[in-house]
Amino acid sequence: MHKTRLHGKAPDGAPGAISHAFAYELFSAVAFNGTRKRIFGRLVELAEVTAGDEVLDIGCGPGYLTSLAADAASPGGHAVGVDVSEPMIAQAQRTRANAHCSFQLGKAEALDQADASFDVVVSSLAVHHIPAEARAAAFAEMFRVLRPGGRVLIADFLPPKGKLGRRLVGATAGETMRDNPVERIAPMLADAGFEIRSTTQVSWFLHCVRADKPGAAE
Ligand SMILES: C[S@@+](CC[C@H](N)C(=O)[O-])C[C@H]1O[C@@H](n2cnc3c(N)ncnc32)[C@H](O)[C@@H]1O
Repeated sequence: MHKTRLHGKAPDGAPGAISHAFAYELFSAVAFNGTRKRIFGRLVELAEVTAGDEVLDIGCGPGYLTSLAADAASPGGHAVGVDVSEPMIAQAQRTRANAHCSFQLGKAEALDQADASFDVVVSSLAVHHIPAEARAAAFAEMFRVLRPGGRVLIADFLPPKGKLGRRLVGATAGETMRDNPVERIAPMLADAGFEIRSTTQVSWFLHCVRADKPGAAE
């Protein structure tokens, strides 16, 4: 997997982990150019997080989306962010943990969470970090931890189509992002058992898929 300076050294067995948590937090705040709250807020809306929901954010990084989801799930609900990077979890705990928002170390493709224990699973800009050969297992894990009728919202990087944009992304973020096959997310979710509800573009760089686990909501 291509690594950039921003990512730092990944631990063994987690090639997509980002170790430079504070640098990522800064980069994320700057790169969104004042739109981070609106864009991540839109993801929470698309996932239809409401008061009382139990929400899981996979590949949560420093926990920005987890925290917005936790606010939407309050009162009565809770959001937990999982990430394979210890520095990311430490940064999230330091800055965003509270009574309705928590964080723990975990791997998307082998989650510790119990079967049918969440109403909503969200994930932003993380799927392309999961090794390609582990992505089907990660989608199967999302399905397993959701209760029947639960919702999943995946947002991932949509590479630019133009030559110059592709060159820039390749040079700065690496070929994994430049060649990110976002069009495979919906079919892979369907293969895991989900019913696809919508495929949308929330900004020029975010491809979003909303899907549901079949079955009646309790
Ligand atoms: C680009 S960051 C996105 C962080 C956050 N979701 C956001 O939107 O700002 C990708 C995150 O996925 C994490 N990650 C990489 N591989 C993972 C895996 N197999 N399981 C869980 N998290 C993983 C990285 O450590 C990193 O924090």
